[in-house]
Amino acid sequence: MIKKGIILAGGMGTRMSPLTKAVNKQLLPIYDKPLIYYPLSILMLAKIRDILIIVNKGQLNQYKKLFPDKKNLGINIEFKEQDKPRGLPDAFILGEKFINNSNTAMILGDNFFYGQNLSKLLTGCAKLKTGAKVVLHSVKNPELFGVAKINNKNKNILKIIEKPKKFISNYAITGLYFFDKKVVNYAKKLKPSKRGELEIIDLINQYKKNKKLSAEFIGRGGAWLDTGSISDYYKTSAFVQAVENRQGFKIACIEEIALLNRWINKKDLKDAISFYGNCEYSSYLKKLI
Ligand code: TTP
Repeated sequence: MIKKGIILAGGMGTRMSPLTKAVNKQLLPIYDKPLIYYPLSILMLAKIRDILIIVNKGQLNQYKKLFPDKKNLGINIEFKEQDKPRGLPDAFILGEKFINNSNTAMILGDNFFYGQNLSKLLTGCAKLKTGAKVVLHSVKNPELFGVAKINNKNKNILKIIEKPKKFISNYAITGLYFFDKKVVNYAKKLKPSKRGELEIIDLINQYKKNKKLSAEFIGRGGAWLDTGSISDYYKTSAFVQAVENRQGFKIACIEEIALLNRWINKKDLKDAISFYGNCEYSSYLKKLI
């Protein structure tokens, strides 16, 4: 089982400026909770308890306010600062000590996943022993994403291309990845692309070249939303609001997931309620008790 996970929560958030001038994108709200809760909940649903959050240099204090040392979610959260956005594979170079020669999951801090059977899919992915696994989701505008061409019979990945100009497939590579321990060495050998960043596609292609790449699919009943542009950001927020208000269940309530995983108890929930104070989120936690 993969026991470690990295959340890449730095970045410039240029597309969302001026919102992101003073506040990191992952600390902005998606409806009723900070964006970072959503990728964190995904790792927790994969039963990953050892987590590294990579943040921009100078923004650690903001994150510590949200995740103070005394906050008990039954998981270990460490932080590492990235001095500038060097690209997604930089997570594995910065995280080398944390990874400590184990397999690891990585999720982008601005990615949102939701849907039936998601927990099962995630724990399945976390069983990865060797190679790499990417999570694919069908999109109508594949030219904007890293895309995988699939052999429809055996679901193997035939080819991956970043933002293909010519149509190859509708399957976008989402921001959730599972890698074996070789990832650190592969990441270290990457050269920056023309835009000056290490590219995740190059890293994944390394596994592809060695025939060690596999895919998992989020079907039509699942949603993968990228919150990187203002319009996508508000669409995601509206989605969460609609689902939560209809069902009465919260998406990405990290204390609820920790409780269901039996990592925390009711006393920890009471502590969380006093941490958050008198708010709607706390009322929801009260109901769990
Ligand atoms: P991007 O969407 O590529 O970049 P960004 O969030 O800075 O936004 P923009 O393109 O508008 O400038 O990043 C995807 C996620 O990865 C996002 O959550 C930020 C994070 N990230 C890092 O933490 N470090 C990095 O070096 C990069 C490139 C991204």
